[in-house]
Amino acid sequence: MSQAKLIDGKIYAERLRAQVAEQVAKLKADHGLQPGLAVVLVGADPASEIYVRSKGEHSLAAGMHSVTHKLPADTPQHDLLRLVGELNADPLIHGILVQLPLPKHIEERAVLAAISPDKDVDGLHVVNAGRLASGLPALTPCTPLGCMILLKETVGDLSGLRAVVVGRSVLVGRPVAQLLLQSDCTVTIAHSRTRDLPAVCREADILVAAVGRPRMIRGDWIKPGAAVIDVGINRVPFDDPVKAAAGRTKVVGDVHFKEAMEVAGWITPVPGGVGLMTVAVLLQNTVTAARRQAGLEAS
Ligand code: GUN
Repeated sequence: MSQAKLIDGKIYAERLRAQVAEQVAKLKADHGLQPGLAVVLVGADPASEIYVRSKGEHSLAAGMHSVTHKLPADTPQHDLLRLVGELNADPLIHGILVQLPLPKHIEERAVLAAISPDKDVDGLHVVNAGRLASGLPALTPCTPLGCMILLKETVGDLSGLRAVVVGRSVLVGRPVAQLLLQSDCTVTIAHSRTRDLPAVCREADILVAAVGRPRMIRGDWIKPGAAVIDVGINRVPFDDPVKAAAGRTKVVGDVHFKEAMEVAGWITPVPGGVGLMTVAVLLQNTVTAARRQAGLEAS
């Protein structure tokens, strides 16, 4: 039986981080410009703490100026907005990322709207979302851009291919659909109300799963030879009942990996696939933002 080829996110993420480090060194040497990234974490969600630490460490490793603000979970919204305002005005900071999700008493939209669109390296401000949807240059959300890099590195030219995105989130589903459209795919966005989702998925040459439901997409939903990009990061009990009884968990994607391996042409593993690209693209977006703020062409 044929086996899908694995798309190893580690290789492509390492390559992109190395390219970013080169760009940073060149910006410093040629223009005395050091890209600066500020990451803000409110509260102590364990997964968010890991992501935020990784963003700080990788930005330093790429030679950037890096600042992490950790605020208590009960921080009032106006204090967070004041910090965002200070970072907007700070000339050493070119990129701002407020880690999501935020505590319930804070309105996410208000915080995202307060970030200067020029420093919005997450690409979540409505100005950047609108620019992306209009086909204009925009700071683009990191995970979707990471998906596109993996697809272009493996599949190559995407023009004319049928792409199905499962999930319509602002963070992944909608922007990745826009990027696939920009690459001349014929794009369907499927979601919880889609009728006969398995049949819709089976039409896809490129299937992007971003629903946050463990192993929802089964092997017989996949067109033979399709490229499957699994954005899901779901914590589930171990299959082994002894480990599960001990309360041990593991991370799986939105795709039933074992079944998909038998059908797909290409597949991203979870962990080790798309997730690793997110930070690398964040670094690239910070360089892009710094160049634009300094009046240089985006690299
Ligand atoms: N939480 C999970 N993914 C992301 C992301 O890409 N950006 C932000 N800001 N928060 C996240």
